[in-house]
Amino acid sequence: KEIFLKDYRKPDYLFDKVDLQFQLGEEKTIVTTKIVVSPGVEGSISAPLVLHGCDLKLLSIKVNGTELKGEEYTVDSRHLTVSTPPAGVFNLEIVTEIYPQLNTSLEGLYKSTGNFCTQCEAEGFRKITYFQDRPDVMAKYTCRIEADKTLYPVLLSNGNLIEQGDLEDGKHFALWEDPFKKPSYLFALVAGQLGCREDSFVTCSGRNVTLRIWTPAQDLPKTAHAMYSLKAAMQWDEEVFGLEYDLDLFNIVVVPDFNMGAMENKSLNIFQSRLVLASPETATDGDYAAILGVVGHEYFHNWTGNRVTCRDWFQLTLKEGLTVFRDQEFSSDLGCRTVKRIADVSKLRIYQFPQDAGPMAHPIRPHSYIKMDNFYTVTVYEKGAEVVRMYKTMFGASGFRKGMDLYFQRHDGQAVTCEDFYAAMCDANNAQLPHFLQWYSQAGTPTVKVSSSYDPSSQTFSLKFSDGTLQTLASDDKPVFTTVLQFKKKEEEFIFENIPEKPVPSLLRGYSAPVRLDSDLSESDLFFLLANDSDEFNRWEAGQVLARKLMLSLVADFQQQKTLVLNPKFVDGLRSILRNTSLDKEFIAKAITLPGQGEIMDMMAVADPDAVHAVRNFIKKELALQLKDDLLAAVASNRSSEAYMFNHNSMARRALKNTCLAYLASLNEPDVTELALHEYKTATNMTEQFAALLALSQNPGKVRDDALLDFYNQWQNDYLVVSKWFALQATSDIPGNVVNVQKLLSHPAFDMRNPNKVYSLIGGFCGSPVNFHAKDGSGYKFLGEVVLQLDKINPQVASRMVSAFSRWRRYDENRQALAKAQLEMIVSANGLSENVYEIASKSLAD
Ligand code: ARG
Ligand code: ZN
Repeated sequence: KEIFLKDYRKPDYLFDKVDLQFQLGEEKTIVTTKIVVSPGVEGSISAPLVLHGCDLKLLSIKVNGTELKGEEYTVDSRHLTVSTPPAGVFNLEIVTEIYPQLNTSLEGLYKSTGNFCTQCEAEGFRKITYFQDRPDVMAKYTCRIEADKTLYPVLLSNGNLIEQGDLEDGKHFALWEDPFKKPSYLFALVAGQLGCREDSFVTCSGRNVTLRIWTPAQDLPKTAHAMYSLKAAMQWDEEVFGLEYDLDLFNIVVVPDFNMGAMENKSLNIFQSRLVLASPETATDGDYAAILGVVGHEYFHNWTGNRVTCRDWFQLTLKEGLTVFRDQEFSSDLGCRTVKRIADVSKLRIYQFPQDAGPMAHPIRPHSYIKMDNFYTVTVYEKGAEVVRMYKTMFGASGFRKGMDLYFQRHDGQAVTCEDFYAAMCDANNAQLPHFLQWYSQAGTPTVKVSSSYDPSSQTFSLKFSDGTLQTLASDDKPVFTTVLQFKKKEEEFIFENIPEKPVPSLLRGYSAPVRLDSDLSESDLFFLLANDSDEFNRWEAGQVLARKLMLSLVADFQQQKTLVLNPKFVDGLRSILRNTSLDKEFIAKAITLPGQGEIMDMMAVADPDAVHAVRNFIKKELALQLKDDLLAAVASNRSSEAYMFNHNSMARRALKNTCLAYLASLNEPDVTELALHEYKTATNMTEQFAALLALSQNPGKVRDDALLDFYNQWQNDYLVVSKWFALQATSDIPGNVVNVQKLLSHPAFDMRNPNKVYSLIGGFCGSPVNFHAKDGSGYKFLGEVVLQLDKINPQVASRMVSAFSRWRRYDENRQALAKAQLEMIVSANGLSENVYEIASKSLAD
């Protein structure tokens, strides 16, 4: 059941060509698969041919045109095995029957709002037909789709449309051919009633590419931003990496029911609606930014993932870490680099650090897994991107580009490993980094201790790094001088000469390695950096370090029932940031935002959600009280009557205004409630309307209830906005919120089969520490019951939800017992999926 990286073996057989035929129907779908099979390089002659298969009804199997007899093959619940296939090249033909209309797992072929679509990564292709369903089996595919013409006027698959026409009984067909070899996980099929927005892009070598975004006709006006994003991504990849699109057609299809964000199927990307559909009235700046990033991400996979793919699923970070890095850089170049970096580092700290410190901790290249879907994690994706970023820090932009060029030169059309990427980077730069590979095999966030000392007599300054494992640090010793220090040993000292006075070092600039930095910088050094660091990222970081220290000491005071007092220097520091008109507005918004509750709980021996919540609220209110005039002024001066625009300046203005409004609302005073109501009523875009709603709903009462009802009435017919409405209520920290969330489960707009709504309502609820970790165990009980219900519908989604339990040992004994009881109840449930089993059992075992 558990699969290990060290057990990798090449496939026994190669598939040279795959011809698929789908007869799509309402009761059943027939899939005919013709494969040209040849012996694998190492495959011993007449090894059995083992094919994966799951939930399939086998109708027939033929080898070289002859139906196999019962004793010539075996079928179990996971495999079809042909015991003695012919030597040499042969034709295999398999016919299976499947039931997409009943498939609620949303993997393989399924129906979403009446349309057929597929999701094959990681191992969903085996739910369509028997196959060697592994990424190192690469073949050229054709796909013929037959379906009712009225119900399914649009028939799409990968590659080029070769032929289409009408058939008897109101049916029609389309034949697609993909000229590029690909693994089965990149196969896709879509059939349904869809309209498209069409545009085109001329590549640098003059290829005219037709771009189409498919969605139900009424949503077409909301696809403009996604189309803009796609064209920007195509342009950017040519400019920055010299990578050009390789077919004449690129399709994006929008589906409401989708487990993950989106999927990079060759020339037929499939997205969940939230990551394509946007209008100023219905989507926030955050949504617009996410669309840009994810449309870019999936497009960039065409080279990093599709043209060069993974040998096996352990190598997932090879394509995901690299592609996340590429989409981060893309968004940086189109927006504001510092602000993007702050957002990405925050995401790493809030989601990845806890994973790396808990029972699901794994290296960016895991050593083993039970269910691969459980390893599409923030570690593989976001920490993986940080590891890629370190190559760029070490080799510089041009060295990194050389490494990328060599990687494609060597591996185009291949399924490769993380070592291959590493070798291309090193070879292109004539470098050797033997220790660096440890980043791929070692779990956990390293801590780097830094101690500094200044010797005035010799005018030398020393930085001593210790305790970590193999980090690369960027550091500087004068405001004008930045250098990269590679930290390779257990302990390393760097001496800087001719330093006339004691400097304040700005360490790990731009967050150059995914570590926890434990420096000996004093409070006054940190205030100095907050006010003066020329690296804006580190300026923000100094404020965060100060805030974390402050919050931790207040948490201790709270636990000892001392009166809480806010350090006036902190208030002054934030005030001067707020008043500094030379700073970017979104930077200001981020710099005055406190670290999350989770970050603080992570730093405690025993996480105390009540204390952290109380302290964070205390600081928020205290800041709002003391900075009230500045906050009011910021709200007033950042209003605008301009039409919505997706550009950094407008977004920064809205971000600052909304952050200030949220502070003010925490005061729960009549004048600020009036202000928030005014903002709510006059808002002309979702960014501002939603921020005002959030402000109004901070405090329980009639104002909150009325605003939530008004918002629902206005948007009840927009499924994506309703999801936001669910999320806002679910994540709320108001006391006893579990009761409200429980009620929302039976709201007519909620649907357990739609992952978006589950993530909003149930995932959202787990995002409120005070309510999820309620002392009485009500939050745990709620989640435990929901997980079992969900698991019957969609194991992948259930598995994501059960992860909220994984850090149960971080809490007090009482909470531990309550959470553990739920986990035990889950693992002992009948018919539990492997997905949920893996997470729940690992959480209990650790
Ligand atoms: N490769 C997709 C991406 O762009 C993720 C799809 C994974 N889906 C899954 N069910 N495991 O990141
Ligand atoms: Zn990806």
